[in-house]
Amino acid sequence: MNKILVWDWPTRIGHWLMAASFVIAYATGDSEEWRLVHVMAGGTLAGLVLFRLVWGVAGSRHARFGSFLRSPLAAWQYLSALARGRPEHYAGHNPAGAWAIVGLLGLGLAATASGWPVYQEMGGEWLEEFHEVVVNGMLLVVLLHLAGVLVGSLAHRENLARAMLTGWKRGDPAEAISGARVWALPVLLACAGLAGWYLSR
Ligand code: HEM
Repeated sequence: MNKILVWDWPTRIGHWLMAASFVIAYATGDSEEWRLVHVMAGGTLAGLVLFRLVWGVAGSRHARFGSFLRSPLAAWQYLSALARGRPEHYAGHNPAGAWAIVGLLGLGLAATASGWPVYQEMGGEWLEEFHEVVVNGMLLVVLLHLAGVLVGSLAHRENLARAMLTGWKRGDPAEAISGARVWALPVLLACAGLAGWYLSR
């Protein structure tokens, strides 16, 4: 197998900004003093998720939802093969990881959608509690995601985290993306920055 470009720039930068926003928002969630930072990080996360939803349709091949969203049965079959030590290798996301991604994007949006009204003192106590449940659910999926990345990296003898940094993976040249789409980076950064600023006003 050759080294091929799989992840475009917006997918990679969006991923690491999303991870950083989640960590910052989670770490500052209980503090009055850091409230503004918390809300900015949550808003940034929402902007990144919204961009990712559009990029899932308009992005490069392996970033598109159509290329990696599979049925729960396909995810189960992938996990069974993994347990038997013979998982299929995917140039993009594997079918089980894809479900974690759906969970992370959905919970990321739900976290901001429930947290923002709390910040604006619009919701009652129940909304605050709901926000906490969503955020802790997201932490759980993040931990599952990290375990999946570790197990997948070991099973395929391939550093998946490094691939999410560099964009390169092993694969068939026919599966490579045609370009790194660097032109879309300003759009990604604008979405993240504007959402972070707007929601924390
Ligand atoms: C802390 C919060 C994190 C969140 C919310 C998060 C979220 C996501 C999302 C949404 C994707 C899909 C990427 C896309 O197609 O756009 C993804 C993929 C990925 N993430 Fe994370 N991530 C987090 C942390 C991490 C960390 C710390 C690592 C590294 C150890 C990591 C490694 C990866 C890798 C390697 C992939 C690609 C998996 C594959 O090859 O299919 N993530 N993550």
